[in-house]
Amino acid sequence: MVGMNLNDQMQGSGSEWWRHAVTYQIYVRSFADADGDGIGDLRGITSRLEHVRDLGVDAIWLNPFYTSPQHDHGYDVADYCDIDPLFGTLADADAMVERAHDLGLKVIVDLVPNHTSNEHEWFRAALAAGPGSPERDRYVFRDSTDGPPNNWKSVFGGPAWTQVSDGQWYLHLFDSTQPDLNWRNPEVGEMFVDVLRFWLDRGVDGFRVDVAHGLFKEESLRDQVFATSEEPVSGASAGESMVERTAVDEPMWDQPEVHDVYRRWHEVLAKYDGDRMMVAEAWTQSAESMARYIRPDEFSQAFNFAWLLAPWSAEAFAKVITGTFEAVGHVGGSPTWVLSNHDVDRHPSRYGGGAVGLARAKAATLTMLALPGSAYVYQGEELGLEQVEVEPEFRQDPSWFRTGKPGRDGCRVPLPWSGATPPFGFGPGQGQPWIPQPAEWAELTVEAQAADPGSTLAFYRAALAARREFSETAGEEIELVDAGEQVLSFRRGPVTVLVNCGTEPVPLPDGDVLMASGPVEGALPPDTAVWIG
Ligand code: NOJ
Repeated sequence: MVGMNLNDQMQGSGSEWWRHAVTYQIYVRSFADADGDGIGDLRGITSRLEHVRDLGVDAIWLNPFYTSPQHDHGYDVADYCDIDPLFGTLADADAMVERAHDLGLKVIVDLVPNHTSNEHEWFRAALAAGPGSPERDRYVFRDSTDGPPNNWKSVFGGPAWTQVSDGQWYLHLFDSTQPDLNWRNPEVGEMFVDVLRFWLDRGVDGFRVDVAHGLFKEESLRDQVFATSEEPVSGASAGESMVERTAVDEPMWDQPEVHDVYRRWHEVLAKYDGDRMMVAEAWTQSAESMARYIRPDEFSQAFNFAWLLAPWSAEAFAKVITGTFEAVGHVGGSPTWVLSNHDVDRHPSRYGGGAVGLARAKAATLTMLALPGSAYVYQGEELGLEQVEVEPEFRQDPSWFRTGKPGRDGCRVPLPWSGATPPFGFGPGQGQPWIPQPAEWAELTVEAQAADPGSTLAFYRAALAARREFSETAGEEIELVDAGEQVLSFRRGPVTVLVNCGTEPVPLPDGDVLMASGPVEGALPPDTAVWIG
């Protein structure tokens, strides 16, 4: 039995809402479309927020909605203080925040500080001003007559450098339309403090910070050294490469200077009322380096991607849980848990797809929701949606264009709300969304599932309600319980949680079944989780 206790290390008061929150991630272009152009928008979100409230979560996080040419669906920002016309206006954003607050939901927005769009006014000015100019110094431009200045690869595939017409090269760790900013130039830091204040003044409750381990690169821009002759996969933060991450040498990621930025941002947020928060998307090499981002004067929390990378295995899940507690414990942080997001295959598909994949996904979700800390739920997982095989003509992920691999579009298909045929109420009328929805989703609409007590939606609502009730009294301590190799089990307060990752039913401990991810009679079947109290 291994005890893990966060009580002693937890800093601050119980008013830090984000420590225990469940946050629902909204992929803006695929949630709900109010204007009928086939792309989700802010007014669509506002009109559907009751679904999110009814689910029983505490907060929403919206992927970027800023002015952007959309080469990476808004992670290529051309204006950080305005809304892309595809998604609406600043007035629509204000109305969305107000409605969310009225419904008791906090609002987290996405901040993209590692790179801008190549259509940002700064990058246009840099191209126009030429080599050696102050305008170029806001980005990472270098001379090189002999190919790219170093051997770094883009996370989306291909070289991380593009040459401009005067011969200089600029760095882009992602797509060539996403030039990396030079964070050694103080103007960059000043600009982002203004951006933070702009959104804080509009009432947002927090920021999800994209590529938080990026920003600073080793000053020499030296070559990356590889352990093997294989293609490098390093510091990835998107798509396929995340799951294959193996790099040992990362001069482009996780540099010590980055922490000064977050200390400064922490101070900016602290001046606002209402416990504003920041969550880091930081893909670091170790739990220790991750913990540095959540020291008390930096981020409130960081995404913990360990579970999302783990196979369906009791042993792997136990390692994720112990590793997470160790990492956050000694800096007084609180854990976060996430099984799906807009960058990875949806978890029912990762766990094998079909009925088994869904059963496992529900079991993993129920287990995650029993743990201390906060949890992130990605839109559509409450409907049990699977990864969709998107026809090449509809794919938009830049990694598809750079590598020819399917990319991330399959987890970004617009949600099915109602009706028997596409677009399933995603937008008004019969206009088709930007990615076609599978016809089988007729059975998975919110409308269909809301009427069915055995649906995945009903399960999520019940599990979230049970979590709310249980986490009020369960405390921050868990004890891992030895329940055999195929079963992960832990105790939290009065509740024992079990998830059966094996192939045979296992006996249940004494007590009442408080929540189960599937049918449980007498024994715990494979691919099922249960809370016993
Ligand atoms: C991480 C985001 O989650 C992903 O969608 C995006 O493509 C990259 N960062 C680049 O901004």
